[in-house]
Amino acid sequence: MSDSPKLTRRPEWTALEDHRAEGAPHLRELFATDPGRAERYVVRVGDLRIDYSKHLITDETLALLQELATATDVFGLRDAMFRGERINLTEDRAVLHTALRAPANAVVEVDGENVVPRVHAVLDKMSDFASRVRSGEWTGHTGKRIKNVVNIGIGGSDLGPAMAYEALRAYTARELTFRFVSNVDGADLHEAVRDLDPAETLFIVASKTFTTIETITNATSARTWLLDGPAGLRDDKAVAKHFVALSTNAEKVTDFGIDPDNMFEFWDWVGGRYSYDSAIGLSLMIAVGPDHFREMLDGFRIVDEHFQNAPAEANAPLILGLLGVWYGNFHDAQSHAVLPYSHYLSKFTAYLQQLDMESNGKSVDRDGNPVEWQTGPVVWGTPGTNGQHAYYQLIHQGTKLIPADLIGFARPIDELSDELKAQHDLLMANLFAQGQALAFGKTAEEVRAEGVAEEQVAHRTFQGNHPTTTVLAKELTPSVLGQLVALYEHKVFVQGAIWHIDSFDQWGVELGKVLARRVEPALTEGADVPGLDSSTTALVAAYRELKEV
Ligand code: F6P
Repeated sequence: MSDSPKLTRRPEWTALEDHRAEGAPHLRELFATDPGRAERYVVRVGDLRIDYSKHLITDETLALLQELATATDVFGLRDAMFRGERINLTEDRAVLHTALRAPANAVVEVDGENVVPRVHAVLDKMSDFASRVRSGEWTGHTGKRIKNVVNIGIGGSDLGPAMAYEALRAYTARELTFRFVSNVDGADLHEAVRDLDPAETLFIVASKTFTTIETITNATSARTWLLDGPAGLRDDKAVAKHFVALSTNAEKVTDFGIDPDNMFEFWDWVGGRYSYDSAIGLSLMIAVGPDHFREMLDGFRIVDEHFQNAPAEANAPLILGLLGVWYGNFHDAQSHAVLPYSHYLSKFTAYLQQLDMESNGKSVDRDGNPVEWQTGPVVWGTPGTNGQHAYYQLIHQGTKLIPADLIGFARPIDELSDELKAQHDLLMANLFAQGQALAFGKTAEEVRAEGVAEEQVAHRTFQGNHPTTTVLAKELTPSVLGQLVALYEHKVFVQGAIWHIDSFDQWGVELGKVLARRVEPALTEGADVPGLDSSTTALVAAYRELKEV
């Protein structure tokens, strides 16, 4: 049991409550009275310029938040994480995704063993395999070149590689086809393989545990398709050339029938949602090539080093984490929107949903006591400008406070035609306009000055004062992607440290898994499931009836 005071009883917490109760000027006033604000509230890390000036904060707010970070020893826990201590308490594991991007000469010890050489050995094995697939040296069972790569995984074993593949599409081998299958709905695998030739298709089965029912079910069906489907290869030996595994569980991989030589290993100190820079990124590495993959790791490392070394007042993950605490705990904000102004980041927010919500969706603290404060927010969003024509209305004029991150780049990718490149300014004009409109709004006086009829004025007034962070970089390179992901990883870490929760377990997903296993026989065989509640019993009966008709 920890003997530190409950979070909400800390003087640093109550000082923030008092500060919040005092109220704060509107962002319009904060900017009008403080000409240095836009310069002062910018933090730079690597290639990222992070503007947090449009937040409902003053120097005093920031100082009080920093005091909370000091009191809760965020940096102490950070150092314990980087040292390889077992800070994932409920699973008794170290948390060392940062070792995945450590340089080859670094020393990171787990139980007295330096894990960095093992990390680099796997990276080298991945590089070799990826190069052989990309060059055509690794062929399928019939000698045909591999043209299609299908990653089968779910959660962290899907969202990371799928997100990064989209993000770095401009860097991918365009002659190869990549698909990501996650849903146990058979339609997912069906749509992924229906137009592919098994002889040209490589399946990458990505599962940390290699026990996840969705993944093992899909992988089994993929093997059936490969061997016995309409164009099946009809030879069990084909599995060796068409299936590789990414896992921590060699025994289960072998049980499945995949040669351990075709397994790329990682370790229990890499959480699933923190794993796409491990072997789980093999599909991505095949897509972008080993050099770009390593550039991405360099990007992660830039932010890791910044998080470790930058002083608190210039530490980007710390500042972003504290801002989230300010809104979630002192403004009753329930959610956080991440709105990338980049088509290539179309899966970025979905990826962050798992990173943030699976990490900080907790209601007991590290000692097992119920928390008496809000923890992780609902994370949501889609790329701008699409969201503007859908749900931004609620952010602008609804009744909820929704802090948002706007992410954009100065340059589009080179591959675009000149005409398409020219659209980039329009895209970014929208990002800047949204940040401005959200912060400053439009007063009733401004609306009236436009000659709007009085009965329309209230409808056309924008209260503003909606906080945003703007993250700007020159372009979306592999390194910049790594920087962005590491920024959010460490932001989530900071918040978990302040809330005194275990950000690295995910027991909340277990109950549903167990119940699904119990209910399934009732659906397939009509078996009696003892102890089912009356609503579920009726639903199962209705399902069976509909299924038979
Ligand atoms: O059930 C949740 C979870 O354990 C995630 O944390 C994880 O990313 C996902 O399932 C997939 O797990 P695995 O990689 O072991 O198949």
